[in-house]
Amino acid sequence: MSIVIKTPEDIEKMRVAGRLAAEVLDYIEPFVKPGVTTEELDRRCHDLMVNVQGCVPAPLNYAPAGYHPYPKSICTSINQQVCHGVPGERALKNGDIVNLDITTIKDGYHGDTSRMFIVGEGSIQAKRLCEITFECMWLGISVVRPGAYLGDIGAVIQKHAEKNGYSVVREFCGHGIGQKFHEEPQVLHYGKAGTGPRLESGMMFTIEPMINAGKAAIREMPDGWTIVTKDRSLSAQWEHTVLVTETGYEIMTQSAACRPKPDWIP
Ligand code: MF3
Ligand code: CO
Ligand code: CO
Repeated sequence: MSIVIKTPEDIEKMRVAGRLAAEVLDYIEPFVKPGVTTEELDRRCHDLMVNVQGCVPAPLNYAPAGYHPYPKSICTSINQQVCHGVPGERALKNGDIVNLDITTIKDGYHGDTSRMFIVGEGSIQAKRLCEITFECMWLGISVVRPGAYLGDIGAVIQKHAEKNGYSVVREFCGHGIGQKFHEEPQVLHYGKAGTGPRLESGMMFTIEPMINAGKAAIREMPDGWTIVTKDRSLSAQWEHTVLVTETGYEIMTQSAACRPKPDWIP
């Protein structure tokens, strides 16, 4: 039980897998429009990953202990769905917010990233939740450097979410990633600065805060995968795969169209 330190060879392969995952999101963006079904988004992403990128979609048949195999290639989490929304016949409508979460496997290595999309015209509240959640992810990333504590990440995320009247989901967290989809460490999106293990260069993990407009409590749907807010409030999430470098961090899941860091964040 320990945190794997990535070699330069591992890191180069993670850059490729991560970029490909981000490029799936770039590609799908114009299709996220009122009337599209989440099944259609899944099929388009699946086909791009398999037929064009030569990737394996990591979610397909993924079966951690206690779960039945995940039936689709991406996760599509709409409105009050927090994460792991399973694509199906539901069509997106104007004003929905949807998280698309892509995990590729290329050459044995994983790239994991997700973004929020606003379908048509979103409400002010929905847009604000997506923005603050994006800022939460970036605040978490901005404290990553050798010698920082893992707990520093969750602390800045929780502070920003709660200052804005939102709550942080506790049951799901960021995770180490590499040749495995989910490995150590668990990256909590809440907690205390100065706690937990110290970061070292070569560590690789995701930062993927799930932020609820209402209370933090969640519920699992009968499909055994989809997680929703218990109070049915909106939920948002953004995710990058991040490497600890000698001087700070490097984002693995970058692409031409991925949104840059907000400029007020150091
Ligand atoms: N991509 C998700 C994460 O960020 C995990 C999805 S597991 C699945 O960790 F099976 F639902 F796809
Ligand atoms: Co992840
Ligand atoms: Co993910």
